[in-house]
Amino acid sequence: MGGPANDSPISHLDIDRLQASLQTHAFGRVLHYLPSTASTNADALAYLQQPATTSTPHGMVVLADCQTAGRGRRGRTWHSPPQGNLYFSVIVVPRPGATGTAPWLSWVPLFSALAVADCLSHQTGLPVSVKWPNDLLINEKKLGGILCEQTTTPDRTMAIVIGIGLNINAALNGFPEDLRPVVTTLAAEAGRQFDRVPILADLLFQLERRMNWLFLDGPAGMVDEFRQRCSTLGKTVRVTLEKKGIIQGVADSIGPDGCLLLRVTSETSPALPSTLLEVRSAEVVHLRG
Ligand code: BTN
Repeated sequence: MGGPANDSPISHLDIDRLQASLQTHAFGRVLHYLPSTASTNADALAYLQQPATTSTPHGMVVLADCQTAGRGRRGRTWHSPPQGNLYFSVIVVPRPGATGTAPWLSWVPLFSALAVADCLSHQTGLPVSVKWPNDLLINEKKLGGILCEQTTTPDRTMAIVIGIGLNINAALNGFPEDLRPVVTTLAAEAGRQFDRVPILADLLFQLERRMNWLFLDGPAGMVDEFRQRCSTLGKTVRVTLEKKGIIQGVADSIGPDGCLLLRVTSETSPALPSTLLEVRSAEVVHLRG
């Protein structure tokens, strides 16, 4: 599928129309739009290191039409061509005085993914699921990813940058060759192109709603919704752990801090017979459903 024509409302990210469509209280009310930047996450993190201003950056969004050095998880790059996709980072300052060890912190990436998956499936009717912890999939192909990075500002406030990259209209044949079999776009799945403005307005609304809920009431009320959206659960998976190496097992459930509870089955891990392993940070591959 080819890219959109250069001047169509689909290829053009209309910032006035976006701001007029916002239904949020804070998310996106301060919006920095850059036609091109290296990485919106890097921009948001740099902003947070500037000396404090009078206004809180909570909800501030850095949005770009393309990135020249988009950052993915595990040090990967994020393919970020212009005129079709979404690349944005939201600054979240959970609570004045919150520390970096708050119990709900580990849920931020998971509930961000839940908000995005809910929004995209409602907007498009496509079956968007979450691969633990926060990959967005359609039919087992990667539609988008989320990179959450935590920092402390010069006045010692804890802040989180939620960076979201979504393949909306970009041409699949423009992706690096090794990624083509495993990625998809909304346009490829639906057979039509999408206006990014209403999608982004709703994404910001859903993200704000989930984050407010998390910060005020904690994770309990959203865990079941996450489980239902998470296509990893019940699947045989291969996880690559930093210290224990590659382990195979069945994704059993989600633990109290958002970790993946894995029933280990791999013969290559005799030291872990039939144990329930708590996986907190790993590369997960779905093998069988
Ligand atoms: C992943 O590897 O799955 C996470 C990808 C996150 C990409 C987004 S695009 C907007 C924001 N800016 C970045 O540099 N990365 C994130």
